Amino acid sequence: MQLGVNLDHVATLRQARYRCAKKVPPHAEPSLAAALHAAERAGAHGVTLHLREDRRHIQDQDVWMVKQEGRLPLNLEMSLAPEIVRIALKLKPEEVCLVPERREEVTTEGGLNVVRAEGRLKSVISQLRRKKIRVSLFVSPNLEQVRAAAASGAEMIELNTGAYSEARTASGRKHELSRLMKAGQLGHALGLRINAGHGLNYHNVGAVLAIPFLETLNIGHSIVCRALIAGLEDAIRDMLRLLRAS
Ligand code: PXP
Repeated sequence: MQLGVNLDHVATLRQARYRCAKKVPPHAEPSLAAALHAAERAGAHGVTLHLREDRRHIQDQDVWMVKQEGRLPLNLEMSLAPEIVRIALKLKPEEVCLVPERREEVTTEGGLNVVRAEGRLKSVISQLRRKKIRVSLFVSPNLEQVRAAAASGAEMIELNTGAYSEARTASGRKHELSRLMKAGQLGHALGLRINAGHGLNYHNVGAVLAIPFLETLNIGHSIVCRALIAGLEDAIRDMLRLLRAS
């Protein structure tokens, strides 16, 4: 099983301080480059960045930095907005994951409606594929959406594990897991490669490994949260050492 580490929330923390800056200064903390290199050293298989239209976390300079400095394949998560599509065609990440995007959402909430998306989606997929970018569609574990994804020209789907992650009862989780498994099975039978992600954490990831033909899990928030707490004690000690030295 491969792990794609989503670094968006490293940038969320950085932008909490630098939101008004025209350009992120080189000394800005936390450093996305440092996070990228930590993911490389830890053995992650890829890095995901979501360049949102409102640039609430990842900035344009970040995607170029990861593409130029990174040793891991870049999965650029993005909407179908023409401005973002233009950037992707120039940047040429190894992979693009197309997602729906609403400004008012805190993070990507639902899957793409591939059934309804029709022309624009197909046109973007073929433009990206012409540049040799692998295309994944973020979809709910809904069989109609999986069939539409297979007909769209995309190579992969990323199954949205959001409903599974949010289920609060054992029977709810079981139900959502079964939907994910059926969607994975169908996707594979239709020739799609299968990824999954959204809302996964250290407690709920185990069961998801049962999804058949799963290649990559994309996980962000929980990893960044664990890093913050795991590192906080050392960070406080380091500062105290400096204060004592004076
Ligand atoms: N996959 C997709 C398509 C997403 O939109 C997100 C959230 O940005 C993730 C995976 C990662 O989700 P999380 O941050 O909850 O691990």
